[in-house]
Amino acid sequence: MIEKQKHYMDLLEYEPVDFSIRKWFPLYHANKEALAEFIGAKPHDIYLVPNATVGVNHVLHNTKDTNKTWLTTNHAYGACQHALQRIGGAKGNEIVKVTVPFPLQSEDDILDAIESGITPDTTLALIDYISSGSAIIFPIKKIIERLHARGVKVLVDAAHAPGMVDLNVDALDADYLVANCHKWMCCPKGSAFVYVNPRHQAEFHPVLYSFFNDWDVDNARHWSNQFIWEGTRDYSAYLCIKDTIEYMATLVPGGWPEIMARNRALAIQGAKLIADKLGVSLPVPESMLGSIVTIPLWDDKVPTKCFHYYSDLKNKLYDTYQIEVPCMLFPKAPTQHMRVSAQLYNSLAQYEYLAECLLEIRRGM
Ligand SMILES: Cc1ncc(COP(=O)(O)O)c(C=O)c1O
Repeated sequence: MIEKQKHYMDLLEYEPVDFSIRKWFPLYHANKEALAEFIGAKPHDIYLVPNATVGVNHVLHNTKDTNKTWLTTNHAYGACQHALQRIGGAKGNEIVKVTVPFPLQSEDDILDAIESGITPDTTLALIDYISSGSAIIFPIKKIIERLHARGVKVLVDAAHAPGMVDLNVDALDADYLVANCHKWMCCPKGSAFVYVNPRHQAEFHPVLYSFFNDWDVDNARHWSNQFIWEGTRDYSAYLCIKDTIEYMATLVPGGWPEIMARNRALAIQGAKLIADKLGVSLPVPESMLGSIVTIPLWDDKVPTKCFHYYSDLKNKLYDTYQIEVPCMLFPKAPTQHMRVSAQLYNSLAQYEYLAECLLEIRRGM
């Protein structure tokens, strides 16, 4: 896919005008259509963005509420929590962050925590589909239904969902959904999308105005076309989405369903192996796990340097054992967790090696 991406970068550099005005648009649409089919959405209801962070910012800037309450959980991704605070704060909105217990026993722990934070002033909730640090698959459909029943719009941060779970965007009926193609779909970095439910599209505008705002106005594509061009830059990652979806599906006989099932099975097997060696329990019921699993570790008294995905142990694993694995001080320092993942290129032996390294580090403390 990187070769493919370089091919598009070359085309742009060799003949910038020809590529940008003739070749780019059909390629953009073909890739967006393939993505829409993969995620269960209609092509005109999504547009492409470089990453989930940008997508969440777009949605929050588009939300008109002022002097209301916006809800999220303590499991939301740090960058998105910042966006909620800053953009919501600038609009005079109060941000309520409910605490979802961790470890947790069942989906009800999440549903009850979210329900407890709703007030008559709550207009919007930012909820993860699959949380980053805690690696929980949230019961997102039930959450959306409950929030809608209380009149609250839902922005789903589904950054990890495409390619990890069988995502069906239309069936969720979220108000807004943002997700990455450069995580579990394995597309090049800089490929993600924003979905806006048709009931909000008339009120949803580009954050960056550019060309094409007045283009195609009579066409069903007009709404989503307003977002396609953020000035001249390298859009090559978008153009590899379709090929990546097709290529990945050829890697195992059962295509995408098999990729997702294999990754999940290996992540859980590897996590259980490590947890057994460390003598700890997984903090989340297996039914709520996907291809990332968080494991409790010993406390780390080292202060966070910049953000909570950064610990002394993480550096030691990298510097001494060449293992890159997120160790985070979650829910808050000094409590420390580690998160393992599985993709087709991983094997059980790697989790065994990680477990041995952890034991060695522990013995040396
Ligand atoms: C839940 C969640 N949301 C948002 C993001 C941000 O993704 P990006 O850095 O691609 O914007 C991440 C990244 O890991 C994430 O895990």
